[in-house]
Amino acid sequence: MALKTVIFYGSVRTARQGIRAARFIRRACEERGHDVTLVDPMEVNLPLLDRMYKEYGPGEAPENLQRLADVILPADAFVIVSGEYNHNVPPALSNLLDHFLDEYFWRPSAIVCYSAGAFGGVRAMIALRSMLAEMGMSSIPSILPIPRVQAAFDEDGQPTDPKTRPRADRFLEELEWYAHALKAQREKDPRR
Ligand SMILES: Cc1cc2nc3c(=O)[nH]c(=O)nc-3n(C[C@H](O)[C@H](O)[C@H](O)COP(=O)(O)O)c2cc1C
Repeated sequence: MALKTVIFYGSVRTARQGIRAARFIRRACEERGHDVTLVDPMEVNLPLLDRMYKEYGPGEAPENLQRLADVILPADAFVIVSGEYNHNVPPALSNLLDHFLDEYFWRPSAIVCYSAGAFGGVRAMIALRSMLAEMGMSSIPSILPIPRVQAAFDEDGQPTDPKTRPRADRFLEELEWYAHALKAQREKDPRR
């Protein structure tokens, strides 16, 4: 059965660039047969965190939060597409992720990081790794850094560097291994 993969992207800036990286990885996942949902905070439109999803009683969560929970709960894998703001995780991304916790448990994550400069957002990736571990969706060893994100994709969203797609395929192959392994274990020993 197709892996259910949820991609989180975390910028709400009018001039945001990382959305192209998010759409690129969505397409790569789709082409590899995943059943994919891209979560865009601009569309989900959650407020700054007040109550986490788990703090609402059954049927009481706001509609947008419930819709997001309905996507997260059955997921097999998460891909987090993170920019780098002041060497750290963009606040719209941590706000989005912070609305949930237990709902992520027992699934792997994989980090696509990017920035305007040469380092591809790897400093934010280091901070993000410990957040994801705390959230019960530890990240796989490989990362997919995208330097100079503003020039990394053409008008059609295709990568301008021909090495990007094969790198993405190796990265996603690794995520798939972990996702299948944890899915098999969840089936043997369900945790919720
Ligand atoms: C508040 C802010 C802080 C930033 N800090 C960094 C940084 O620490 N390192 C870096 O490489 N780029 C930094 N940048 C540049 C971003 O890498 C670049 O603007 C990128 O496109 C941001 O992602 P977004 O367009 O998806 O919002 C920063 C940008 C903003 C808006």
